[in-house]
Amino acid sequence: MKKLIIANWKMKLGFNESLVLAKKISNKLKSNKNNIVICPDYLSLVSIANILKNSKIVLGAQDSAIVDSGAYTGEVSPLNLKSIGVKYVILGHSERREHLHENSAIINDKIKAALKNKLIPVLCVGEKLIEREAGEAKLVISDQLRRGLNKVDLKNNNLVIAYEPIWAIGSGKAIAPLEAEEMHQFIKSQANKILKKIVPVLYGGSVDSKNISSFMSQKNIDGFLVGGASLKSDEFIKICLQ
Ligand code: 13P
Repeated sequence: MKKLIIANWKMKLGFNESLVLAKKISNKLKSNKNNIVICPDYLSLVSIANILKNSKIVLGAQDSAIVDSGAYTGEVSPLNLKSIGVKYVILGHSERREHLHENSAIINDKIKAALKNKLIPVLCVGEKLIEREAGEAKLVISDQLRRGLNKVDLKNNNLVIAYEPIWAIGSGKAIAPLEAEEMHQFIKSQANKILKKIVPVLYGGSVDSKNISSFMSQKNIDGFLVGGASLKSDEFIKICLQ
């Protein structure tokens, strides 16, 4: 089955590096088995929209604002993102929750603003190691889902959830595939209760070309949100061609 594979370049590349990487990936990835999305930083978004114009790779953003326009210094409008060809937007990434103190109420507003503009939000959820060790992973994630998806209407819209255990991000220690499968099953059923719709759930956290096949075969893993391994063209292409 086709998987959704999203590259999250975070704030890891310079402007020119981003353009070079986008060109390499789009030149080498002519036929995709899976659905591929690239989320560069804001600075390179417009240039990369042009690079990807004639490819099958889809453009995503790493965040978007709670409103379409107004006096919101430094924010980027979901309406404007849509107008340059962005299709997906990552929201509620654990790095924003931690470093920028984003809470579920803000994330919920961002999801609604993105949906209003027909962007597909990729809501990130995940537990810290200390929460997992205390047996609270499911509790934490239920809470993130309940608050983040509060009054979200998906009648004419789509949304994706990304399960990213925080301890697995950038650590080289991905979750065990069977544990991921169990968490994904749980997240899907919780989200279904809230949204009255089955939504895809991606896995993120130290995914690479070596471990991806063990996740691919899990029934409830609908794709991947890839950080570090998406920054090297050959590595990312190997992942996309799985
Ligand atoms: P890594 O793949 O580098 O662990 O990052 C995962 C992530 O945070 C993607 O959003």
